[in-house]
Amino acid sequence: MGKLAICGGERLRKNPFTQWPLSTNEEKAALEDVLESSRWGGQPFPGKYAAAFASRFAEFHTAKFGQCVNTGTVAIQAALKAIDIQPGDEVIVPAYTWEGTVGPVLLLNAVPVFVDIDPDTYCLDAKLIEKAITRKTKAILPVHLGMRFADMDLILQIAAKHKLKVIEDCAHAHGGMWKGKGAGSMGDLGTFSFQSSKLITCGEGGAVITNNLEYLERVQSYINAGRASVTDQFHHRIVGFNYRLGEFQAAVLGPQLDRLPLHAKIREENMAHFEKRLQGTPAIGLLKTDARITRLAPYGFVLKYFSEQAKATPRAAFVGALQLEGVPCDGLFYEPVYKSSLFPVKPADFPALTWGREQSLDLRNMYSCPESERAAYEEAVWFPHQLFLGGREDVDAIADAIQKVLANLEELRGLDHKAIRDQRLSRADRES
Ligand SMILES: Cc1ncc(COP(=O)(O)O)c(C=O)c1O
Repeated sequence: MGKLAICGGERLRKNPFTQWPLSTNEEKAALEDVLESSRWGGQPFPGKYAAAFASRFAEFHTAKFGQCVNTGTVAIQAALKAIDIQPGDEVIVPAYTWEGTVGPVLLLNAVPVFVDIDPDTYCLDAKLIEKAITRKTKAILPVHLGMRFADMDLILQIAAKHKLKVIEDCAHAHGGMWKGKGAGSMGDLGTFSFQSSKLITCGEGGAVITNNLEYLERVQSYINAGRASVTDQFHHRIVGFNYRLGEFQAAVLGPQLDRLPLHAKIREENMAHFEKRLQGTPAIGLLKTDARITRLAPYGFVLKYFSEQAKATPRAAFVGALQLEGVPCDGLFYEPVYKSSLFPVKPADFPALTWGREQSLDLRNMYSCPESERAAYEEAVWFPHQLFLGGREDVDAIADAIQKVLANLEELRGLDHKAIRDQRLSRADRES
C-alpha cells in the first residue's frame, strides 16, 4: 500500500468542499413570489424579474442595457444577429474554449476562424488576430476564459483599425473588471451564461449586455419570436425564436448578483493565498497576473502542470491522484474546438464552408494551434471556483494535496495511466 490515496493510502481531504450552486431564503422567497404571481413565462415580454435583473446586471458590468435569454449559447447567437452577421461572414474565435462559443457562428452559417491562445492567459492571443483577418472577417469573439481576460486593449485597437465588431464571451467572467470596466461592456456586446456551473446560475440561462440601443432592440426581436423590441426606436423585425428566460429562472438570479461582490472578494483572497502556496513548486506553473484586471472573476483556478518536471508522469495520472486525495479537478476540461468530438462539422450541413471556394473548408483538419493543444492535452489543470469559496483550510488542503502527489510520484509509475483516464467520465458525457 502506498502513501497516495490512488495507491490505497489515506485520502488527504475527507470533507466535501463548498457545494455549488448555493441558495438562501432570498431565492426561496423570490421563487414563491413567482409561483403565486401566475406570471411564470417570459411573455408578455420581458418578465418582471427578467427585466429587473437584466438592467441591474448590465449596470453592474458598466453597460447601459441588458437582456436575459435562455442559455449562454443563445446569448452568443443573438449577439451575432445584433451585429448582422450574414451567411459566409468570418468570425475570429479562440481555439481553446467551450464548443458553445463556436456553435452559434456555424448555426448562422457563418465561418469560425480559429486563432491560438496566449500561453500566459489561455485566452485568445490578440497578437495573432491580424494574421487571421481576411476581407470576409466581420467580428472578433474573444472569450475571457478561466480566470483571465483576453487583451481587450489590443483587441479593440485591431477591431477599430479593421472596422470589425467585437463580442465578448463572458461565460466565465461574471463581475470581472478590466481597467474598471465590466466584462462584456467594452466590445459591441457581451454575453453571459447562467448554466449550473457558472458564477451566477439559474440552472440554464444567459444574458446579453451592450451600450448600443439598436443592438439591444435586435436582440430583443430575435429572442422574442420576431416581435418588436420594448423601445422599438429602430423598427427592427427579425425572424426570431422563443429564446426568452422564464420567471422562475430569472427570480433566482437577483440574490446571487447581490452576493457576487462578496464571493468575488473571498475567491480573490483565497486564490491569492493558493498562488502563494504554489510559488516555486516544481512542475507547477501559474498563469500571468495582469494589473489591468481590476476585479478577478474566476470560473475556475487554472494552473499549468509540467510533466517533464514531474518524472514524466502524465497529467491524467497527476489529476487522477489529486481527485482521489479528495480534490475535484480536471485536466481535459476543454479541447481545441476543431479537434473536439462535440464538433462533428460536415461541410454539407454548413454551405458557407464551401461558397466561393474550390474546396470546402475542412475545419477539423485545417488547424494546428500549438498553445491550445498544449493546454488541452498536456498542461492545464482546472479547479472549480467553489473550492475557493470556503476558508483558508480548504485552500491549504488543495495545496497540500498537490505537494503530496508531487512528493510521491514514483507511486504513480506502476499504475495503468490509460485505465485512470478511462475511469474518468469522457468529456462528451460531462456537464459543460
Ligand atoms: C466559454 C463558454 N461560452 C459559452 C458557453 C455557453 O453557455 P450555455 O451552456 O449556457 O449555453 C459556455 C458554457 O457552458 C462557456 O463556458
